[in-house]
Amino acid sequence: MMETKLYEGKAKIIYPGPEADTVRVYFKDDATAFNGAKRGTIQGKGAVNNQVSAALFAYLEAHGVRTHFVRQLGEREMLVRRVEIVPLEVIVRYRAAGSFSKRYGIEEGTPLRTPLVEFCLKNDALNDPPISGEAAVALGLATPKEVETLRREALRVGALLKDLFARQGLELVDFKLEFGRTSDGALVLADEISPDTVRLWEVGTGERMDKDRFRRDLGGVEEAYQEVLKRVRAATQAE
Ligand code: C5P
Repeated sequence: MMETKLYEGKAKIIYPGPEADTVRVYFKDDATAFNGAKRGTIQGKGAVNNQVSAALFAYLEAHGVRTHFVRQLGEREMLVRRVEIVPLEVIVRYRAAGSFSKRYGIEEGTPLRTPLVEFCLKNDALNDPPISGEAAVALGLATPKEVETLRREALRVGALLKDLFARQGLELVDFKLEFGRTSDGALVLADEISPDTVRLWEVGTGERMDKDRFRRDLGGVEEAYQEVLKRVRAATQAE
């Protein structure tokens, strides 16, 4: 029997959860980039992203960050609290890379003087355009207080992740977070944190250890994803 899907996105499928106010997240091997313009499969990606996300959510929770994570349910699935996703991508950058480098004509790798929080509107038809916090408030996407919380939590998550990856010889260059509102209106970290959503550069060589290997056809995509899982495991088990 086909299970009822509550939602299917590019990389994940959401199923009803076994407990009230929960859903199950199934991580697929499907990979897309440039808003779906490039498509492919990364063998084992679903299992890596689920396990990396689970380990990182548990690590963040242990350091006082509220997340949607309840528990891992197997190699490719996790149980999370049901939330209403805030339609903003919250991006934190430490060095210029990707769309930021392109937008401002800044060489990739240029360090930023301060960590930068940016918002993009989650809208595939518009290619997820950058949006200011003020515009997000004006459009009713978040309250001023929520925008403040998004910025503060994103920077706190960033500091914790930067530290964890650094202990494993990986530099966190930038990453994207999504947040959701629980039934009682609290903002919690949601979605995933995985090689799909972070940029990680090998300290010393600058080798890309993330989805840029897929986006830029660098090869060794599966190997990089497995290596990140190995290092996240080592870092979180040592905690
Ligand atoms: O492409 P851009 O440079 O804006 O990406 C910044 C960071 O956000 C990267 O780590 C990228 O993996 C992540 N990102 C994402 N999902 C998007 C856009 C960006 O995970 N839709």
